[in-house]
Amino acid sequence: MEYAATIAQARALFGVSPRPLGFVPTMGALHEGHLELVRRARARCAAVAVSIFVNPLQFGPSEDLARYPRDLERDSEKLAGAGVDVLFAPDAAIMYPDGFSTSVDVGRLGETLEGAIRPGHFRGVATVVAKLLHVVQPDLLFLGQKDAQQTAVLRKMIRDLAFPAEAVIEPTVRERDGLAMSSRNAYLDSAQRAQAPSLYRALLTMRQALERGEAKSQAIAAATAVLAPAAKLDYLDLVDGETFEPLDTLKPPAFVVGAARFGETRLIDNLWIPS
Ligand code: PAJ
Repeated sequence: MEYAATIAQARALFGVSPRPLGFVPTMGALHEGHLELVRRARARCAAVAVSIFVNPLQFGPSEDLARYPRDLERDSEKLAGAGVDVLFAPDAAIMYPDGFSTSVDVGRLGETLEGAIRPGHFRGVATVVAKLLHVVQPDLLFLGQKDAQQTAVLRKMIRDLAFPAEAVIEPTVRERDGLAMSSRNAYLDSAQRAQAPSLYRALLTMRQALERGEAKSQAIAAATAVLAPAAKLDYLDLVDGETFEPLDTLKPPAFVVGAARFGETRLIDNLWIPS
């Protein structure tokens, strides 16, 4: 595996990369969800690039930027073992040198739901991924459905700004008890870890109720009853599969989406309802 820490090093490697080149952007603290994206990229592409960059622009002032888990050495070993060709791991001064001020904003889609609770989050995501796409210039961009609204934001950015890359969305990888894998699961203590899969069970309950024809309010009530009592619910909702605007009734394609806090740790999850 080759390693690039600066944009010049990265361009030198990616400029001569075999094609198609698949790219998996991450913030590190890699788990099976990330590695599954790498395997899917490996299966479809002649070369695979991964980035690790904990992007300060997508964290709010009271969020977990400082304590976000970082372990570049173990991550590198995992990626080398998974057959990654190039790891791009810049630091913040490389991505955001003094005077950096440009941003990418996809509009309304970035301001609803997660964007309403985390103002500026999706602007930070779109800005860093735009820059990473310019550095890596991949043919395929691999993203996880775990962060469904993020995939919609990035697909919109790619379409609106004619990035010459195609987004490929892969299913959410879960623990055996249903909890969606996330780098933030490492924050959970054992009691919270036991409660956390209730978010997934709540989403399953909500989807079943909607598919039986129950009203959204009833479906949300049934789902809320399944959530661990100690969890603090941010939202459970039924949203349009493209715009992420709330739907009053089930009109697929749609997502049931949820966010809840287990102690200080905020987890999100979703289920897809195809048309
Ligand atoms: P991060 O949370 O590290 O996730 C990197 C990629 O892995 C994202 O596409 C995410 O959706 C995917 N992923 C995370 N958990 C997953 C799971 N359980 N199953 C399948 N895929 C999963 O998302 C980010 O980083 C950042 O916002 C980033 C896109 C890198 C921009 O900074």
